Amino acid sequence: MATTISTTVPGSGLQDVKELTRMERIGAHSHIRGLGLDDALEARTTSQGMVGQLQARKAAGVILEMIKEGKIAGRAILIAGAPGTGKTAIAMGMAQALGTDVPFTMLAASEIFSLEMSKTEALTQAFRKSIGVRIKEETELIEGEVVEIQVDRSATGAGAKTGKLTLKTTDMETIYDLGQKMIEALNKEKVTAGDVITIDKASGKITKLGRSFSRAKDYDAMGSDTRFVQCPEGELQKRKEMVHTVTLHEIDVINSRTQGFLALFSGDTGEIKTEVRDQINSKVAEWREEGKADIVPGVLFIDEVHMLDIECFSFLNRAMEDDMSPVVIMASNRGITKIRGTKYTSPHGLPIDLLDRLLIISTSPYTEKEIKQILSIRCEEEDVEMTEEAKDILTKIGIETSLRYSIHLITAASLVARKRKATEVDVEDIKRVYSLFLDEKRSVQYLKEYQQQFMFNAFGESMDVDRGASADSIAMET
Ligand SMILES: Nc1ncnc2c1ncn2[C@@H]1O[C@H](COP(=O)(O)OP(=O)(O)OP(=O)(O)O)[C@@H](O)[C@H]1O
Ligand SMILES: [Mg+2]
Repeated sequence: MATTISTTVPGSGLQDVKELTRMERIGAHSHIRGLGLDDALEARTTSQGMVGQLQARKAAGVILEMIKEGKIAGRAILIAGAPGTGKTAIAMGMAQALGTDVPFTMLAASEIFSLEMSKTEALTQAFRKSIGVRIKEETELIEGEVVEIQVDRSATGAGAKTGKLTLKTTDMETIYDLGQKMIEALNKEKVTAGDVITIDKASGKITKLGRSFSRAKDYDAMGSDTRFVQCPEGELQKRKEMVHTVTLHEIDVINSRTQGFLALFSGDTGEIKTEVRDQINSKVAEWREEGKADIVPGVLFIDEVHMLDIECFSFLNRAMEDDMSPVVIMASNRGITKIRGTKYTSPHGLPIDLLDRLLIISTSPYTEKEIKQILSIRCEEEDVEMTEEAKDILTKIGIETSLRYSIHLITAASLVARKRKATEVDVEDIKRVYSLFLDEKRSVQYLKEYQQQFMFNAFGESMDVDRGASADSIAMET
């Protein structure tokens, strides 16, 4: 383990995992496709699913630009604002805009209390998941156009197959002996004469690049997705530089003896020993010096950050000063409130020394027009047709209650509309679901009226306390 630090995450596997999460059902933020900024980083009023909140989006764009240049590490940003003002949405937009090469990790602060590991271990893992290592590796390839594949069935029928593969470039032609494994690999990739392929000499992996142009006219019946490529030039054997990005956490897991890379897929990684991390850090430092690897500082997003406690905050203070630290983005909807684990209060529930290290972006409430825009976008995302009048009513509801509540009514209303065999949601459907589902204010009203019938009722004191602690009644720090 000391010498061979492995970085190769079986590529195809990881891809599948990502693919699965992308096929998610329609989520709260699935309409967000980016930050919706123009080249000058000005926010377009409505773009990429984002509406309004121009200041905050522009600020997020500036941060993003710094992250992409890879210059900043260890900076932290706090997005602060009332509930439902798009803090999480902006973070999701940033994640989308970053692309796939820069790691983005999302963590709800309360998650770290429910994992089977210490809080600091969970945070360390989250930090290391957010740092990419871009590794350059030289590999030896054989690249050429297949002239002929010839497989000898052994005389006895069963047993190992052997064969010959003839490959050519524009300049040369060579015959290679094939073993059982290579024959299977060729079959699996459905390689036939006329294909241009590469064979990785180290792993034996075969990749089909496409069909040679010289064969274009032989096959009229080929699917339109067939890619035609030139027959390669020069030598059959080539050296190619391959670049892949893995996260520090992935390297940790692969190299921690008790885990193995399978743990990456189950997510069940347990605690990782400090020695393993130390070794990997020094190895990565070595690679950097040799020019074999670059560090790509990514983004760690901690939502609902006021849920962390004082131990976590002091860990963050320290971890952000490390030279291999990602950009940490936090979000909170709390005003002046208690810091968890202490009896002191502080703005956003964060200790002052941590706040001092943060740049703060604040979000503001939406106007009526913006709410209507967001609702329209959500209707589209949820495939719901709605009349203009219905949208107006829903917007009114959004202003009176909350944006979230009115977003939730969309699907419910469309179900009601479908029941009466209508294709469009109309005012009556909105009215119906508005009376079926209570928002917070009416629910409290209901509680007051029927308090005798509820269990554990202590309306006078505890309700006051609860209202005090509920997120939206706390005045935001200005
Ligand atoms: N500017 C916006 N453009 C488009 N959709 C938005 C915008 N702001 C918020 N939304 C949508 O409104 C809903 C509520 O916003 P979001 O969850 O981001 O609020 P939040 O600020 O994170 O609130 P909380 O403090 O309660 O976590 C989400 O579905 C979000 O996608
Ligand atoms: Mg949120």
